[in-house]
Amino acid sequence: MFLVEAEALIIYKRSVKVVAMDKMVIEGGKRLAGEIRISGAKNAALPVLASSLLVDGWNVFHNVPDLQDVKTILKLLSGFGVKSEIGETLRINAGAITGCEASYDLVRKMRASILVLGPLVAKTGEARVSLPGGCAIGARPVNLHIKALRDLGAEVRLRDGYIEAKASRLKGATIYFDISTVTGTENIMMAATLAEGTTVLKNAAREPEIVNLADVLQKMGAKISGAGSDVITIEGVKSLHPAEASVIPDRIEAGTFMIAAGMTGGDVRLLGCDPSHLEALTAKLRETGMEITVEGDSLRAVGRPRITSVDIKTMPYPGFPTDLQAQIMAMMAISAGLSVITETVFENRFMHVSELIRLGADIVIEGNSAAVRGVPKLCGAPVMATDLRASASLILAGLAAEGTTTLSRVYHIDRGYQRIEEKLSSLGASIRRVSG
Ligand code: UD1
Repeated sequence: MFLVEAEALIIYKRSVKVVAMDKMVIEGGKRLAGEIRISGAKNAALPVLASSLLVDGWNVFHNVPDLQDVKTILKLLSGFGVKSEIGETLRINAGAITGCEASYDLVRKMRASILVLGPLVAKTGEARVSLPGGCAIGARPVNLHIKALRDLGAEVRLRDGYIEAKASRLKGATIYFDISTVTGTENIMMAATLAEGTTVLKNAAREPEIVNLADVLQKMGAKISGAGSDVITIEGVKSLHPAEASVIPDRIEAGTFMIAAGMTGGDVRLLGCDPSHLEALTAKLRETGMEITVEGDSLRAVGRPRITSVDIKTMPYPGFPTDLQAQIMAMMAISAGLSVITETVFENRFMHVSELIRLGADIVIEGNSAAVRGVPKLCGAPVMATDLRASASLILAGLAAEGTTTLSRVYHIDRGYQRIEEKLSSLGASIRRVSG
């Protein structure tokens, strides 16, 4: 009886925790103006931290963002015996690896956990990493990671929901990726650094985060050329050494704030970003009538009373990023005209549409395209986030809407935006986090 009560109490406490999840309350209609500093990129920090598995000793990484996903990968790495110290910079040491299993519990929380697969096999000769499973935006298989590891000579089998990989030493090979995959390219680039002989990755992804990772690996002593192009060559070495390096600025965070400026008729200066990583978005925003000016590593985005609609098609870099599709859709929802937004990277990345419609947007989905007919204004309402970038889109819509928007399931936004409510508030937005 007592046990049952104790269990009931645990379940109650868990449910209270769920009920007590944070929400974001936004009073829309405020013009955003001022300047903010862009944080380090989540999608660059995760592979860079995973790369520490390849070396013995303390690495020093600057500009690592303070995000839930970073905490998740550090937790995952600590399960392998990796030590880390977080301060102004992040120090991390994988000198004494004691385990090689990435559990389902952590991998399902963050799919990028798959990034430990390549470095673990390369360094320790084995890895057991849970298969991530599907997610809100699509099936997202990891078949290309597995195939490429096999091409490098690893023995890989799938058992009990886990990828089990073994190799006494990986062997260089020419690998052709059927689809351009970001984490796939990163995983195999890391694995190949310690392989015997030369590896050539063809149809490699070209994202700036891959260039950042290649720079870090080179500082560790890896021999890599071609990162940033679709052919990357890696000459394997016997061992790597610790390095000091920086994570690049987050182009998706920067892009989200540029769109926020456009949607509120604002004037926002973004400090510490890399405008060259934002060219696809900048071109599109200029087409909408926004004024975008670049001054070194800062970027000024100026909105206007009513933006012109533009068509968007997401593509791998240097095309328009899928990670900004939900946000630009929020912008098109209040544009003057009709916009067709086509998603080519993920098959199910329109989860935000039904929530935007709750705010008054006029959007119709047909296959992998959405027809967005701009309305003069959105109206605040309670909405729910389904994934990280969908949350950002709903916050943007709330900033531009009349009245109050309450966004629940805020934990999604905390995965990838460092203190977004503080940054927006400093620009004049009315946004606050509340519990419950
Ligand atoms: C990364 C980013 C994510 C971004 C995405 C596309 C990180 C941590 N995440 O995710 O924010 O939205 O790139 O820019 O960097 N695919 C396969 N088989 C595979 C691998 C991928 O079919 O083995 C498919 C995917 O389902 C998708 C496409 O390839 O349709 C591109 O996915 P991919 O580049 O691998 O995305 P991620 O690396 O998971």
